[in-house]
Amino acid sequence: MIRIEHISMDYPIGDSVCHALQDVSITIPDGQFISIVGRSGSGKSTLLQIASGLAVPTQGKVYYQDTCISDFSKPLLAEHRSKTIGFIFHSFYLEPEYDVYTNIEIPLMIAGVPKAERAAKINAQLERFDIKEKANVKAKKLSGGERQRVCIARALINEPSVIFADEPCGNLDGENAENVMNILGQLTKEGKTVVLVTHDMEAAVRTQRIVRLQNGRLISDEML
Ligand SMILES: Nc1ncnc2c1ncn2[C@@H]1O[C@H](COP(=O)(O)OP(=O)(O)OP(=O)(O)O)[C@@H](O)[C@H]1O
Ligand SMILES: [Mg+2]
Repeated sequence: MIRIEHISMDYPIGDSVCHALQDVSITIPDGQFISIVGRSGSGKSTLLQIASGLAVPTQGKVYYQDTCISDFSKPLLAEHRSKTIGFIFHSFYLEPEYDVYTNIEIPLMIAGVPKAERAAKINAQLERFDIKEKANVKAKKLSGGERQRVCIARALINEPSVIFADEPCGNLDGENAENVMNILGQLTKEGKTVVLVTHDMEAAVRTQRIVRLQNGRLISDEML
């Protein structure tokens, strides 16, 4: 379970302040498929960054089960993300000069997984996402859909219990977008929690719950 409690986030802009989030609270049970929707600038990505421990809120706390990650040091937060969380961003950065295999291998190396074990895990992901024949191709030479599949494979390689996806279908054509939504749905069936940020209501209605942000405030929270 993830508990987001009374989160506010202020960004200083010159002499003024942008209130990107104001007193937002959400509890997400394990295994839920939840979408966060709202117009551009409503605070969706900021909320995702705070929920995942990539950013520290101005006010409020984030708990995973009963552990408050808002009090973690930077190294502890990095360890928490490495062990617990997978990130899928539409513009998520692959190392362009590294091949597909190496891109997927990096999180395993960071987590200290031995080489033989890494190979088995990577090959399983390459199979699952139908990118095996591209294993030795540099990331910069992939199509948009292939790149996306590599990003998802990399996000899942450490078997995270929580996936945060920020507009994961952003750059994709209909068929590839459909594939991504199917994969996310499948992950929740495997018991993983999936938090989807989107402004596409067609995608949002395929999840179990829609939380809507407006000007940094939570204005509705609806179970489907
Ligand atoms: N690093 C930053 N410094 C200053 N202001 C920021 C920063 N990041 C976000 N903001 C501001 O906070 C508000 C919320 O931004 P956020 O990126 O969370 O919106 P969003 O809902 O994800 O929008 P989009 O749909 O366009 O991605 C915006 O007004 C934005 O300009
Ligand atoms: Mg955003």
